[in-house]
Amino acid sequence: MAPLVRIQNFVVSTDGYGSGEGQSLEHPFGHADPETLMSWAGATAHWPNRTDPGGTYGLDDYITRDYANNVGAEIMGRNKFGPERGPWENYDWQGWWGEEPPFHTPVFVLTHHPRPSFSKGETTFHFLDASPKDALTQAFDAAGGKDVRIGGGVATVREFLDADLVDTMHIAVAPVEIGRGEKFWTGPNEYVERFHHEQIPSPSGVVHNFFWRR
Ligand SMILES: NC(=O)c1ccc[n+]([C@@H]2O[C@H](COP(=O)([O-])OP(=O)(O)OC[C@H]3O[C@@H](n4cnc5c(N)ncnc54)[C@H](OP(=O)(O)O)[C@@H]3O)[C@@H](O)[C@H]2O)c1
Repeated sequence: MAPLVRIQNFVVSTDGYGSGEGQSLEHPFGHADPETLMSWAGATAHWPNRTDPGGTYGLDDYITRDYANNVGAEIMGRNKFGPERGPWENYDWQGWWGEEPPFHTPVFVLTHHPRPSFSKGETTFHFLDASPKDALTQAFDAAGGKDVRIGGGVATVREFLDADLVDTMHIAVAPVEIGRGEKFWTGPNEYVERFHHEQIPSPSGVVHNFFWRR
């Protein structure tokens, strides 16, 4: 099977926001509470940051596991990588994720302000000023025959969808309103002409939306 371009485990609020307003160092999702958006995944047995035993093994866990399944590279926007905007003052900031970022693959950070690549644990971050199509070419070259995940944030995911470069998409709608910030959609109907769509509610309260190309 040819490798895919996947949007995976992207979370939005019931009113369609993927992030709140006013991102900062202390608040990566702006005024939105990441705990509330991500609690469905955090409760699963395979949540990568789990420090205690236990966790659920149901639908949410299957999806959490699929996050890394057959993914060979990620493309993300610069605002997912960090809160700084504009030219880099220095290269001290190396992402929110500590010494072992959860990607374990090459990650291509799109920005108009490139900087040198660096590695943290098993993840290497590269910085690219490129169109979505050219970024994908580089990501597939690095992905060793595996899929490329479009990891967010909102603007980047929308950019790849607008360019019609996405093969499959999983959007989790969390039972919370954000009210303002980075809007992803008005609802799944925006994409049903281009994609098949299945909607599956989980007992956790999240509604999983799966899309694949028509
Ligand atoms: N809901 C979720 O599942 C989820 C997932 C990931 C992240 N997030 C959140 O989403 C928010 C970030 O989203 P966002 O919409 O603000 O921004 P974003 O998509 O992360 O980044 C947008 C920035 O990426 C750069 N960029 C994008 N396309 C480019 C291209 N083709 N060429 C060069 N540069 C390009 C530009 O940065 P420059 O200004 O540097 O040029 C642009 O301003 C954060 O709060 C993050 O925590 C949510």
